[in-house]
Amino acid sequence: MDLLWLVFLGGLAALPPVREIHKQLILVGFGVWQLSEGRVLSRSPRHGRVLAMVVKIGLATLLIAHTGEVAINSSYFPIFYVPVVTAAMLFGPRGTLGWTAVASGAYCAYLLPALRHYSLDAYGRDQLALRVFFFFLLALIINRFVMESREAAAGLLVEQERTRRAERLAALGQLSAGLAHEIRNPLAVIKGSAEMLSKESAGAGALPMELAGYISSEVDRVNVLVGRFLDFARPLRLDRQPVDIPALLDRALADAEHRWPQARIVVTRAFPPGLPRLVADRTLMERVFANLINNAFEAMAPAGGGRLTMGASGETAGIRVWIQDSGPGVPSELRDQIFNPFFTTKPAGTGLGLAIVSKIMDQHGGELTLVEGASPASPGARFEVFLPYGEHSDRG
Ligand SMILES: Nc1ncnc2c1ncn2[C@@H]1O[C@H](COP(=O)(O)OP(=O)(O)OP(=O)(O)O)[C@@H](O)[C@H]1O
Ligand SMILES: [Mg+2]
Repeated sequence: MDLLWLVFLGGLAALPPVREIHKQLILVGFGVWQLSEGRVLSRSPRHGRVLAMVVKIGLATLLIAHTGEVAINSSYFPIFYVPVVTAAMLFGPRGTLGWTAVASGAYCAYLLPALRHYSLDAYGRDQLALRVFFFFLLALIINRFVMESREAAAGLLVEQERTRRAERLAALGQLSAGLAHEIRNPLAVIKGSAEMLSKESAGAGALPMELAGYISSEVDRVNVLVGRFLDFARPLRLDRQPVDIPALLDRALADAEHRWPQARIVVTRAFPPGLPRLVADRTLMERVFANLINNAFEAMAPAGGGRLTMGASGETAGIRVWIQDSGPGVPSELRDQIFNPFFTTKPAGTGLGLAIVSKIMDQHGGELTLVEGASPASPGARFEVFLPYGEHSDRG
């Protein structure tokens, strides 16, 4: 690329006026800047791009002054394409328009000295307008192209990250399924022995009974952890069938109410009539909602009660489901971490709930998001799940 630039600038230098020393110096200036631009931009992207524009518009403006008897008539005016294209590559649409306006202004400023000696006829005015018009046209076309390729590259990165995560999970799944099996067998033996011990030591005082009880309850805890870890790590095989989202949410809610019979929670359901069914794995989707609703109940537990809103809406490509609680919400510094496996702020949490939900959503081609600051009036956390309809749904 640098070589091409040097050839291009060399070509300009060889064209008349050849003996104009200022013109040649300005071309050298362009060359020097072009060779160092990459380094400047990588060292300071924000300020570097502004500097690039100032330098290029400045040099282009000077070049015009030294290449025509009347600067505004200079045949070198397309040199302004250089800053215009640079703006289109380094800025968004608004920045591109702004810098193109600055470049056009710099060029048109030569009209003022020219008007002192000449008058502007209709032909001259149209020529000038056309030139400026083409500056903008070029800027917009190139900027649109650049923005589109940037978006495509960003999409590709997200897709690559998703594939990498799936590969890591698959490897982890195989390893841990075997390991979990090996852990569960001895646990069953330990638990059985503890129960035997507890029966046998019925008359032998309180301590052996108490110790046997500890062994048994701790084994239960490890068992739950292993089960939860398996849920997370095991490769999922989806059994897709049409599912009714509100019914699944109600089931998950009923389970949570059963687990926390004392919780004073006011539930609001917001399901539009005629919500289409979608094709998904029923058991896994129920697990998704159960995890989100359990988290909501746990978040509201310290206050002894609260409000839970759950709802769904049909969109063009799928169904959006939300679960919102009136708990303390997720502190902004934890927002990125809560989806990581084993991240928990709860004394007895495993930190796998949201990781399991994310994994199930990935497998369904859906999305899980924590909506930031749902509304100032109701703080709390709002989790949204977006599920594509899938083939053969009522809509698909
Ligand atoms: N509704 C919520 N309100 C506030 N914080 C939440 C909410 N849901 C999740 N969190 C935060 O995200 C963390 C991770 O949640 P996740 O469900 O993955 O694990 P956990 O609930 O801690 O443990 P587990 O679900 O495995 O029992 C929680 O510890 C909590 O800090
Ligand atoms: Mg949880």
